[in-house]
Amino acid sequence: MNEKSLEALAAEGAVYFIFGATGDLARRKLFPALYSLYREGKLGERFAVVGLARRPRTHEQFKDDVLESIREFCRYKAEEGQAWRSFADRFSYQSLDIGNVEGMRQLKAYTEELETRYQIPGNRLFYLALAPELFGTVSRNLRDGGMLDSGGWHRLVIEKPFGYDYPSAERLNEEIRHVFQENEVFRIDHYLGKEMVQNIEVLRFANAMFEPLWNNNSIANVQITLSETVGVEERGAYYNKSGALRDMVQNHMLQMLTMIAMEPPSRLESEDIRDEKVKALRSIRGFDSEEEIRKRIVRGQYAEGISRGQEIKGYRQEESVPSDSNTETFFAARLYVDNFRWAGVPFYVRTGKRLPVKSTEIVIEFKNVPNRVLFASKQELRPNLLVIRVNPMEGIYIKINAKKPGNDMTVQPVAMEFCQSCQIGINTPEAYERLIYDASRGDHTYFTRWDELAVAWKLVDPIAAAWKSGTSEPIFYPAGSWGPEEADRLLEEDGFFWWPVNGQEEDNVIWVSNAGK
Ligand code: BG6
Repeated sequence: MNEKSLEALAAEGAVYFIFGATGDLARRKLFPALYSLYREGKLGERFAVVGLARRPRTHEQFKDDVLESIREFCRYKAEEGQAWRSFADRFSYQSLDIGNVEGMRQLKAYTEELETRYQIPGNRLFYLALAPELFGTVSRNLRDGGMLDSGGWHRLVIEKPFGYDYPSAERLNEEIRHVFQENEVFRIDHYLGKEMVQNIEVLRFANAMFEPLWNNNSIANVQITLSETVGVEERGAYYNKSGALRDMVQNHMLQMLTMIAMEPPSRLESEDIRDEKVKALRSIRGFDSEEEIRKRIVRGQYAEGISRGQEIKGYRQEESVPSDSNTETFFAARLYVDNFRWAGVPFYVRTGKRLPVKSTEIVIEFKNVPNRVLFASKQELRPNLLVIRVNPMEGIYIKINAKKPGNDMTVQPVAMEFCQSCQIGINTPEAYERLIYDASRGDHTYFTRWDELAVAWKLVDPIAAAWKSGTSEPIFYPAGSWGPEEADRLLEEDGFFWWPVNGQEEDNVIWVSNAGK
C-alpha cells in the first residue's frame, strides 16, 4: 500500500493545519487522534500543528482547549508530564479569515518559521474541518497566498458532505481540482477508518474458507445494519437538509456494501483496491422508476416514543427542524449487485436514528443445506451466518450447526465469536487516527476517490428526487423501535428476516466466545 515506514515518516515530518480548530470535530476527534499518533511515535519529532479559525485565541488558550479535548476524548492520558509538554509545544493558533489572501501570506511566513525551527522540509497537510462550501475558497487562497510553494508535499483532507447531489459534488470537486491533484486529495469517510471495516479485506482474501463461498452459489443474502440510539441532537439544521440517505447511505452504507461485494484486487495497492470498489458500485442496480423506489426502499421518520425508559420527542419536534419536515431519519432498502458473483443475492441495508441499540453489523447469511436430506429433513436447520461486528463492539462470529451432546442426533446452533474489543480493550486506534496517519503517509486506500463518489451520488440522486417531487410522507415509527414494519417486509417477501444485532441474540444458541458469554 505504498507505505512509508514509521521511521521514514517520522523523520520526514510535516506541518498539520487544522482549519476549523475551534469546532466540534477538532475537539472530539482530531486533537485526540494527533495525540495518540504522537504517543505511538507516528508523528516523530519533526512536526507542528497550527490551529486556524476566525475567532481570536492565544496560543496558550488554544493549548488549554487541546488539553481539555484530549482529557475528555483520547484513549491516552494527557498527564502533565514530559509527553504532554513536548506535544503541546508543537501546537499554535492563528486567527484567520479564510476568504482573505493576505491572511494566507502571513500564514506562509509563520509556517516557514515553524519549518525552520523543527527542520520540516515543506510538507503540509491541510485538514478542512469546515463547511464544504468553503473548500473551494480555502484551496484557492492557499495557492494564491503561496502556501503551496514550499517544495515538500501538499495534501488536502476533507470531510463529508461532499456536495448535496451529483452536480453540486462535481462543482465542489472542480473547485478543489483547480488547485490540487486527485492524488493530493483525501476524502474522509470515517467508516473506512474503522478496524472491522478494514478487516473485511483480510477476512475475505486471507482465508481459504470464505472466498470460494463468497458468491450467489452459497450466500442467501447480506444484511447491513447501522443503527443509532441518538436523534439529531443539535444538528437539526444540517440533518434536515441531508436526511439518512445523504448522511449515511450515500457514504458509510455504500462503502461497507462495496467492501463486501468487490472482487479481489490484483495487488494490494490503493488504486487497485479502489478500482475494484468502483466496479462493484457500478454494478449496484439503480432505481429508474418511482415504482422501483416504493417497492425496494422504506423511508421512515421517528415520532415520539420511549427509549430506555425515557420519553423521546419526535423528529418534527426537534430544535431547528420544521414541524412539517418530511426528512427521513430511517432508511432501509433491498439492493442488488448485478454481476456474475452476486446476481440474485439481495443486500438489505438499514440505518436509522432513535433505534433501540447503537450497532453496526454486517451479516452474511449462507444458503441452507437442501431441506430433504439428513438432518434437515428431521428438524428445521438455521442457516450458517458470518457476522462482522463493526461498532461499538468489534469482532467476528460464525454460527454453525453442531450435534447437541447426548444420545439423540439433535442439531444445535453454535456461535463461535472472536470479540476483538474484549481482547484489545480501548487500545484499538480510532478511525481518525488511522486516517490522519494514512494521509500523512500518502496512502489513499481508505479514502474515497472522486469516481467512487460520483457513482454513489448517481445512485442516490434519483431516490432523493423522487421523494422531493412526490407528496408522500415518510412512514412514522416510534422512537426506540426498529423503524417501520415495512422494513421487515422487505425481507419477508423474500423469505428472510433481519437477524438480531448486538446484544439481542437469538434463543437456543450456544456461544463460545472470548467475551466470556
Ligand atoms: C456521521 C453522521 O457521518 O456518522 C452522523 O453524520 C452519525 O449522523 C455518525 O451519527 C455515526 O458514526 P459512528 O462512528 O458513531 O457510527
